[in-house]
Amino acid sequence: MSATLIDGKSFAAKVREKVAVQVARLKDEHGVTPGLAVVLVGEDPASEVYVRNKGRQTLEAGMNSFEHKLPAETTEADLLDLIGRLNRDPAVHGILVQLPLPDHLDSDLVINSIDPAKDVDGFHVSNVGLLATGQKAMVPCTPLGCLMMLRDLYGSLSGLDAVVVGRSNIVGKPMAQLLLRDSCTVTIAHSRTKDLPAVCRRADILVAAVGRPGMIPGDWIRPGAAVIDVGINRIEHDGTRRLVGDVDFDSARHVAGAITPVPGGVGPMTIACLLANTLTACCRANG
Ligand code: GUN
Repeated sequence: MSATLIDGKSFAAKVREKVAVQVARLKDEHGVTPGLAVVLVGEDPASEVYVRNKGRQTLEAGMNSFEHKLPAETTEADLLDLIGRLNRDPAVHGILVQLPLPDHLDSDLVINSIDPAKDVDGFHVSNVGLLATGQKAMVPCTPLGCLMMLRDLYGSLSGLDAVVVGRSNIVGKPMAQLLLRDSCTVTIAHSRTKDLPAVCRRADILVAAVGRPGMIPGDWIRPGAAVIDVGINRIEHDGTRRLVGDVDFDSARHVAGAITPVPGGVGPMTIACLLANTLTACCRANG
């Protein structure tokens, strides 16, 4: 058996196209242009690539992009001051502070200083609480992208067994909330889970978000399951550098029913959902 490849790249292109159409309409009918501010502190090379891609795709969707690159030694007071100004700026509808932040900055404090209505990452405790209680929230972009691909695959997810491997605030926990909201039976597994292979084998939907290259082999996967690989791990292989997921793709593709490749699966959906969240924030701000 060979799994269907879930093509996140073309799915994301369709989402971006739909966003661009709505952005153009907002401009024509209401004279409003959505604006996304991205804040990067320090010079982490991977973060710089992400931020550049976000800026480019924001502009391509017809939105305004505001980039704030701050030195690694920026003080918490200066960062909070910038976020305060972005919160008050009516041209800014979405604010994203790229993580991880340098160690001397308190990420929770910084994220919770963002106006929840502009928190397009969905990381503010208000949005986390709204999502957990089934209210209208800003939903974190990577899990939202995963959910969109799963709904496209299955239609209804109701009653399916979902296992999320990884319990991060960015992916694992919100992914579990979204799957629960769609009436899956959800298990969150992690490094201390007893008999992780057996837990994974129960899954109709297996989401891997641990950041460990190739950790989940094909024989942990239930035949026919949908496998969503959130991992983006940079490794050296035969002297060349390449990206691999948390799932061992070569063995998993013979067992799974459908699988996201790395690259070209979940990754492109994250930025597409960020643009969609920025549009949503702009629409809500303008009634
Ligand atoms: N770093 C890795 N993923 C993310 C994300 O989704 N949002 C932010 N702000 N930082 C990240």
